Amino acid sequence: MVREVRVGPDDLIQPLFVVPGTSVESEVSSMPGVFQQSSDRATDAALAARDAGVPAVILFGIPENKDSTGSEALRGEGVVQRCVESIKGAAPDLAVITDVCLCEYTDHGHCGVIEGDTVANDKTCELLAAEAVSHASAGADIVAPSDMMDGRVGVIRQALDDNGFADVAIMSYAAKYCSGFYGPFREAAESAPAFGDRSAYQMDPANSDEAIREVALDIDEGADIVMVKPALPYLDVVRAVKDTFACPVAAYQVSGEYAMIKAACARGWLDEPRVVAETLTSIKRAGADLILTYFATAYASALSGSSS
Ligand code: PBG
Repeated sequence: MVREVRVGPDDLIQPLFVVPGTSVESEVSSMPGVFQQSSDRATDAALAARDAGVPAVILFGIPENKDSTGSEALRGEGVVQRCVESIKGAAPDLAVITDVCLCEYTDHGHCGVIEGDTVANDKTCELLAAEAVSHASAGADIVAPSDMMDGRVGVIRQALDDNGFADVAIMSYAAKYCSGFYGPFREAAESAPAFGDRSAYQMDPANSDEAIREVALDIDEGADIVMVKPALPYLDVVRAVKDTFACPVAAYQVSGEYAMIKAACARGWLDEPRVVAETLTSIKRAGADLILTYFATAYASALSGSSS
């Protein structure tokens, strides 16, 4: 009765990895229970999320062909665009969020286009805006830029508005740290950088004041929801962002957080339902209004199956 925080299905967002083809389902070895799925299977997974009470999914696309500018990301017939249409057709009430970034689509695995030995910030913003418009044209409700280029939220907002998508919201990966916990995701999305790392555009784990500045910029440029990522190692940042801005805050329990729990539970060292509930509760207690987690559907289904 006096419990302060409860995590329900409607706090959660289920990530899905979409690949070309039909009836394709291949498990990500470092993320047991998470699959690369073709659009038809991803649609089934989206329906399962909805049936468990989860209000939204976020899609990551892995294209057949990658090139230096990630041109597949902008293609109307692209893997994410097709899947958005499929999910919205099957479940119009489920919110579909799309990850907007180039790293899944570039052959070098960086989040933007490379000029010389660095990522070209402004050119990348233009491509991201075109990608966001393409996702919105396919029916995405929310676009989620995860690239960490400077100024991209403003450029995306303008492009959405100019193309008749004023109602499409932006969930920005605002305080995204340069984290070792993204390792399993890069296997799932086949997006590990071929050279260098992402420290020139992602944040130093040592900085929390900088997170406040990053979030302030994104809100100013038009972000509707701001995200802190990863979640568990950055709960202080989640709290600081929530206390500073009257804005919906999302936290992403990332692939490495998932893998860590799965690996320990597979050995019988931790009790999965218990630690999943504990981590999600902690993330919400820290101030997150929304949690992106690979456990979303499983956690929500378990909740509805139990008497609590
Ligand atoms: C793309 C992106 C990444 C994640 C979400 N969007 C990877 C990265 O920045 O390397 C990570 C999600 C996870 O680890 O679960 N930029």
